[in-house]
Amino acid sequence: MKKTSIIVAMDAKNGIGKDNDLMWHLPIDMKFFKTQTENEIVVMGRKNFESIPERFRPLSNRLNVILTRNKDFEAAGCLVFNDMKDCISTLSNREEKIYIIGGGEIYKQALELDLVEEMYISHVDCELDADTFFPIIDEQQWEIKTLQDHPKNEKHAYSFAIKYYKQIKR
Ligand SMILES: NC(=O)c1ccc[n+]([C@@H]2O[C@H](COP(=O)([O-])OP(=O)(O)OC[C@H]3O[C@@H](n4cnc5c(N)ncnc54)[C@H](OP(=O)(O)O)[C@@H]3O)[C@@H](O)[C@H]2O)c1
Repeated sequence: MKKTSIIVAMDAKNGIGKDNDLMWHLPIDMKFFKTQTENEIVVMGRKNFESIPERFRPLSNRLNVILTRNKDFEAAGCLVFNDMKDCISTLSNREEKIYIIGGGEIYKQALELDLVEEMYISHVDCELDADTFFPIIDEQQWEIKTLQDHPKNEKHAYSFAIKYYKQIKR
């Protein structure tokens, strides 16, 4: 089965969302997400999908894949799966990269099932009152490189750094 890539933005306490929404508006990070995932496959939980404003979903120029346990769930222009392993194994036949784009439940399961070989993590310099979190990872198991550093400015309420994590094979 093909391994996948995670893309996520988190605060200093691994917080990723609150009230089924993001906690920040960081245009440069949004642009990074778009550029990275365009023409690839994005796999998301049903809650994450529904958190995307209707006019922006499905995300353009990407194959949108939704995970739900609801067998009747349908969303125009999207593929729907009821099981994560079945989903990734089916998508493995395709050429595109598979990005796991959250939210919290989906990130956790992808890591637990060892389906992830690399991660793009935007570390946002704040500690907010999140209700959804990214799992704590063991940094010894990842080779980590900083790709970009961005200061706070009038369009970005927080500074942030985008880091690349590559799984160390043992
Ligand atoms: N900061 C970031 O980078 C980032 C990225 C993405 C999302 N988020 C945030 O994360 C939050 C949403 O995350 P969340 O953890 O609440 O929900 P989620 O992971 O987006 O979706 C959970 C849903 O996925 C489905 N699901 C979970 N495991 C499944 C499995 N093994 N097989 C089939 N379906 C499965 C279930 O849908 P059903 O209930 O329909 O069965 C479940 O309720 C929001 O606040 C969002 O803004 C942040």
